[in-house]
Amino acid sequence: MTRVVILLGAPGAGKGTQAANLSTSLGLAHIATGDLFRENLKNNTVLGEKARGFMNSGRLVPDALVLEMLFDRVAQPDCKSGYLLDGFPRTLPQAVALEAALGANTDVQVLNLEVSEESILSRATGRLLCRGCTAIYHRSFRPPVTSGVCDECGGELFQREDDQEVVVRERLNVYHTETAPLVEFYSKRNLLVGVNGEQTPDRVTEVLMSALAAVNSSDNGGDK
Ligand code: AP5
Ligand code: MG
Ligand code: ZN
Repeated sequence: MTRVVILLGAPGAGKGTQAANLSTSLGLAHIATGDLFRENLKNNTVLGEKARGFMNSGRLVPDALVLEMLFDRVAQPDCKSGYLLDGFPRTLPQAVALEAALGANTDVQVLNLEVSEESILSRATGRLLCRGCTAIYHRSFRPPVTSGVCDECGGELFQREDDQEVVVRERLNVYHTETAPLVEFYSKRNLLVGVNGEQTPDRVTEVLMSALAAVNSSDNGGDK
């Protein structure tokens, strides 16, 4: 049985922060479509050039480009027993395509990080990322030991182009129209657990881990 865990949540809700913790604890590959696109941007690939304008203005990259990249990535050997999705799916067509690709022999669990709009804005606009690895910091909520330098690898920290307030607001609008409907999509399938994301990162990780364990044990106790 392949295990697929999906982290849903608005931009800046903490998906990347939590995915880093969960993927280590669960032993699942962390697949973040935003990180994959940023890697393509950095390397000036054809895909990166196609994605750049959409990303920097806060819009979604067209489904066809996202799906091709995602399915290529999850076909790699490190995803054989399962993976943790961060930032995918985020449109109904993406969710439908994933469902069709996974088939019946997959254990799917969906966790929705619930965070207020006010927190989203301060989280996203204060975020810093490492150029060397994928570590995530925040000017106030998770400052690095030395200003501007990654604790993990010594890399330079920078602000994402799309974390300016005006772009964050556009990303939030896009989230409400395109991505929020996935909450209902997965609720209807009884796959979704909502988690309060307005707690310390470590506390959120604990709650997510117990939600995953609870769903798993109720599955095992059932007649499936
Ligand atoms: P993507 O990179 O996925 O961005 P996003 O979904 O907008 O999410 P973020 O990465 O902004 O937030 P996050 O939830 O990961 O929060 P984080 O943990 O960093 O996508 C970027 C772009 O790529 C999209 O706009 C689109 O153009 C394109 N794209 C990607 N996937 C796509 C797809 N499937 N389809 C189409 N287009 C796609 O945390 C945020 C900050 O808060 C950090 O500073 C962190 O330190 C802090 N923080 C985290 N948790 C807490 C906490 N509990 N308390 C206090 N602070 C916290
Ligand atoms: Mg992220
Ligand atoms: Zn680093």
